[in-house]
Amino acid sequence: MAQATFHFPRGFLWGTATSSHQNEGNNQNNNWWRWEQQPARIIDDTESGLACDWWNGRWREDFDRAAETNQNAHRLSIEWSRVQPTPERWDENAIDRYREMLRGLQDRELTPLVTLHHFTNPRWVEDQGGWENPEVSAWFTTYVSKMVEALREYASLWITINEPNVLVGLAYASDAFPPGKHSLASSVRATTNLVRAHASAYKAIHSLQPQARVGLAVQIRPMLPRSPRWPLDRLVASLADRNLNHLFTEALVSGKLRFPGWRKRLPEVKGTQDFLGINYYTRDLVNFSLWHPMQFFARRSFARDADLSDTGFIANDPSGMFQVLKWASRYKLPIIIAENGVDNADDRLRPRYIIEHLHQVWRAANFNWQVKGYFYWTLVDNFSWNRGWTQRYGLWELDPQTQTRRRRPSVDLYAEICQENGISSDMVARYAPEILEKLFPD
Ligand code: FCB
Repeated sequence: MAQATFHFPRGFLWGTATSSHQNEGNNQNNNWWRWEQQPARIIDDTESGLACDWWNGRWREDFDRAAETNQNAHRLSIEWSRVQPTPERWDENAIDRYREMLRGLQDRELTPLVTLHHFTNPRWVEDQGGWENPEVSAWFTTYVSKMVEALREYASLWITINEPNVLVGLAYASDAFPPGKHSLASSVRATTNLVRAHASAYKAIHSLQPQARVGLAVQIRPMLPRSPRWPLDRLVASLADRNLNHLFTEALVSGKLRFPGWRKRLPEVKGTQDFLGINYYTRDLVNFSLWHPMQFFARRSFARDADLSDTGFIANDPSGMFQVLKWASRYKLPIIIAENGVDNADDRLRPRYIIEHLHQVWRAANFNWQVKGYFYWTLVDNFSWNRGWTQRYGLWELDPQTQTRRRRPSVDLYAEICQENGISSDMVARYAPEILEKLFPD
């Protein structure tokens, strides 16, 4: 076997990603808390509850975990419903708490990547139509301005909105997330307002902090035709790819929202991103199906021999990471991998998943595509939305009842990668010997 190390670019950001509702606990004032109280919304009938108990201060020990294991960055989100519980009221205590958390990152030399919206809306926003209300862009910008003023001393890397494409798909085109509209018209309205809100927030952030770097995080889950020779499979793959994966990025580049058969000009959104935030987990095979009209007639599946996660939600498909980075590289903007991870409680799959995906990131960096950082999803097991507590993405295992954390072997693997700023054959031999030959052939 060859002895070698894949080195990453100097100054590469190594971190984990988290989000307010999934980590803080007792976030009672948003649409998600309310959703969790309704029967049959969460597949295992659980609630976010205390989550990782960050709001009571456990962020400190978890930030220690990140810093002590050589990470140099951390992605977290601000909970809009905490800082603006009603349209007229700012909760200065909550804002102070976020200031303290960001100072906590600074003290530990963890560069913050701050998300301003990660799936949850304050109840007052949701009650007035959420992302369907054209006023939401102004409301969001007011909140964003308040937070950037409060936090600009500590952070300059911002993600306005996490996965607007997933949000539209799950909350407006179907009913997995609140408000569960199941409507094409709602999806079009929400998409338009999300793009507008992002652009307006982008401009507000830059006027308050000229050196800020601002982007969106989109989840890209590429679609490949299940039978490449079958024209209908090819057609739905490309339709679904364009509309579910690429629409937001294209809109911010061109100033045009291109829905199938219909275009909307939004010149004011053109050029409003300084980097591309990419969340990549897996890739789908798709075939034409009349039963999936809201998915652009694409039925998704994995290959029969796929290397699957615990819940079958993710297939370990690292070449998809390369495909996504290749697509992203055409925009000539810096790229941050804002999420990548796998649900796997016993940690048998995670080490090879991390190594194989990072290997593709390393390949991309060697093409001089501007990949600037990688955030593993996630630090400690947390609340996985409609999938409740069934999915274990954490480097650390969490028992949400007792709040006990336990290290999975991947903690040490990731610590070594962060320390070395690279992946060595020796690490692979120790953590994922099954892929050693593949990555380091003689
Ligand atoms: C992404 C979300 C994130 C997390 C992962 C598993 O879609 O952004 O909050 O739940 O999936």
